[in-house]
Amino acid sequence: MRNIIYGVLLMISLSVNALAKPHIVILATGGTIAGEAKSELATTGYKAGSIAIDTLINAVPEMKEIANISGEQIANIDSSNMSDEIWLKLYGRLSELMEDSSVDGVVITHGTDTMEESAYFLSLVLDAKKPIVLTGAMRPASAMSADGAKNLYNALALAASKEARSRGVMVAINDRIFSPRDVTKTHTLNIDTFKSPNSGEIGYIIDGKAVFNTLSQVSPKAAFKKAAFNIKGLKSLPKVDIVYTYSNDGSKVAIEAFLGAGSKGIIVAGSGAGSIHQNQKDYLIQLLKDKKLVVVKSSRVGSGIVPLSSEEVAQGFISANNLNPQKARVLLMLSLTKTKDIKEIQKYFNMY
Ligand code: SIN
Repeated sequence: MRNIIYGVLLMISLSVNALAKPHIVILATGGTIAGEAKSELATTGYKAGSIAIDTLINAVPEMKEIANISGEQIANIDSSNMSDEIWLKLYGRLSELMEDSSVDGVVITHGTDTMEESAYFLSLVLDAKKPIVLTGAMRPASAMSADGAKNLYNALALAASKEARSRGVMVAINDRIFSPRDVTKTHTLNIDTFKSPNSGEIGYIIDGKAVFNTLSQVSPKAAFKKAAFNIKGLKSLPKVDIVYTYSNDGSKVAIEAFLGAGSKGIIVAGSGAGSIHQNQKDYLIQLLKDKKLVVVKSSRVGSGIVPLSSEEVAQGFISANNLNPQKARVLLMLSLTKTKDIKEIQKYFNMY
């Protein structure tokens, strides 16, 4: 009899404990965090996106002490192969999870190569009522001193924390927390690769505890929770491409090809403060006149604002503000789901 009572009490205490913990869902998409190499020394030449989410979760048992966890495999790819289709799938599942009262936050495991684009996209399309934290790794899970386990633990701790509640979509990697708008990958292989060149990180995770910088240091653009763009029901996104500027390049070949392939908008990764080779620019001015394309001037430099002259404004160019070309592409794709009006689109670039 006594054993039965002890058993019942133990079960009650275990379930109360489980109820007290936040419920965090991990959506896995692949990347190096799920990558495996043949040798412990190998940090290149491995296959990203080969380990399943359950294996990743079981490899970090400490996570179960701070949250009730469920894992879902959305994709298992190298993030250089990220697609609109997977973005829309992620958006659909995240929209459901934001409304699910049994869920307190979400972690997304993602390859580092295009994490900044996915994070920015999700931050613009979701009513992020709960924390959504993207993380990844620079070293495959099989590597000596792999960074994935700690990054996953930190991302989960952040998603489960009270401090993260009003912060919407974030990127957490290498002990730092970043806003999706400003974060970018800056080194091909080093684990300290993510930076926010225009605004800095918004916080840190120290021994599993999220510590945010004071509000004055956080970009006001860092944490909008309400969706800027409603993409509910969309099955595809407008095609936008990037043209890179470099010396001796006055050709219009790439622009013509993109136009021929159905591009609705072009981002120019210009030199310096967004300069474009005059021959290319003349062609773009003609396309703007004929209303064939929307053209956004950004810069390949990696930080800083791209200004427009009054002549360029009159010609119909849009400034990317301080978005890098890959993020300007995301914002133009979403802008084009709403309008083709250049002044309206410029407002989005000033705002988001
Ligand atoms: C990827 O982006 O999927 C590969 C590289 C990485 O995750 O670090």
